[in-house]
Amino acid sequence: MMLFGTQRINESGRLEIGGCDTADLAREFGTPLYIMDEELMVENCRRYVRAYKRLYQEGETEIAFAGKAFLTMSMCIIAAREGLSLDVVSAGEINTALKAEYPMERIIFHGNNKSVEEIELALDVNVGRIVIDNLQEIDLLNRIAVGRSKSVDALLRLTPGIDPHTHKLIRTGQADTKFGLNIKDGSAMKGVKAALAAPAINLKGIHCHVGSQLLDTEAHEQAAEVMVAFMKEVLDETGYEVEQLNLGGGLGIRYTESQKPPSIEEFAERVIGVVRREIARLGLRLPRLIQEPGRSIVGEAGATLYTIGAIKEVPITEDPGRRTYVAVDGGMSDNPRPALYDAVYTAFVANKANQRADWLVTIAGKHCESDTLIKDTRIARADAGDLLAVLSTGAYNYSMASNYNRFPSLAAVLVRGGRAEVIVRRGTLDDLLANDVIPERLRSAATSGVGG
Ligand code: LLP
Repeated sequence: MMLFGTQRINESGRLEIGGCDTADLAREFGTPLYIMDEELMVENCRRYVRAYKRLYQEGETEIAFAGKAFLTMSMCIIAAREGLSLDVVSAGEINTALKAEYPMERIIFHGNNKSVEEIELALDVNVGRIVIDNLQEIDLLNRIAVGRSKSVDALLRLTPGIDPHTHKLIRTGQADTKFGLNIKDGSAMKGVKAALAAPAINLKGIHCHVGSQLLDTEAHEQAAEVMVAFMKEVLDETGYEVEQLNLGGGLGIRYTESQKPPSIEEFAERVIGVVRREIARLGLRLPRLIQEPGRSIVGEAGATLYTIGAIKEVPITEDPGRRTYVAVDGGMSDNPRPALYDAVYTAFVANKANQRADWLVTIAGKHCESDTLIKDTRIARADAGDLLAVLSTGAYNYSMASNYNRFPSLAAVLVRGGRAEVIVRRGTLDDLLANDVIPERLRSAATSGVGG
């Protein structure tokens, strides 16, 4: 059985996470529920920090948590405590960090279409670095910074032209992308020159992100090679020596037992190996090396707990002639990834975790469409009221959740050492109305009767 971090099956045959029995969690906090294993998140942060420190130059590595994977104020505090920088992409993410008193100088602000308001906010709260995506943004950022008599540290996002093996919607490093400045067509060099010439921009370095959920290091190694080669080109053509090299995120995790991503240490070894080799070969100075993992820090540390409800058997034309649908009390609103990316997941009956998983079922959500969470999986025989745990939901589930069909948002609890604490409270039915406005005209129609 695939289990992560502090997940274990206790003497009662129930899944326990962070020393908390999931049946107790369901009773206390309700379902569906996101459960985050603090120890595992912290361990992942530390493994990244340690591996990069050990394999690179002391003081010259930086791990930034990619907030898009899972950002709450508590998560900002954990990242801050572990010494991680924070990658944000919106005013909402900046504000989350700000309200959590996350140190603003450790923020790396990304985005391919930052608004004037977002750039103004970033400058006003003094975020550490802005990653510039395009030529237009160089002018915009410079203008806004000059207007505030400020200067801003910046990296340039580049497109290394690498096509990684992952779902087409989460590839970003290839040439045909909305992200970054293309190296091959000369845009990247143009960007470097423009940024160097911009009085309010301190160009610190370059950035790339090739894709997400990558199960090997090939794309990262190729990207590192291309990026270092570009550093040399920049030095030769402009005399500017790139100080910071940010290679983005992308390391994959295990959603099923058959997926075998490299460990954090193997990943670091491979990537750093290429950076060191190429830097030495081209006679450059080692830059500060930055990596921005999201999924590989929080993904396996999260599980979603559901209550099983309706169970239905239907005839189908293919083998074995029938399909058993097991419906849970959540679905695509708390996990849109199967619908978006054909993402696969592993689940088991959390309160019957020591029973044989020999019942072939399809796990369905409860939305008003065919929101299959897991197709054809084997779980223990279950009834309505049993609990289903879906693993590896810590990344891009909470952060991509919606209120489709007016489902209130889920609660998230942080578990550790037998304690469970709410870090996101469950949304209420009235929360869903918080932004609804009824124009007076309709209000009077409702009371006086419509039509006529
Ligand atoms: N840095 C940048 C600039 C990024 O664009 C991303 C992810 C990361 C870091 C973190 O990548 P990670 O280590 O998590 O792979 N919603 C999709 C994933 C989109 C990833 C976007 N960028 C999903 O659910 O699979």
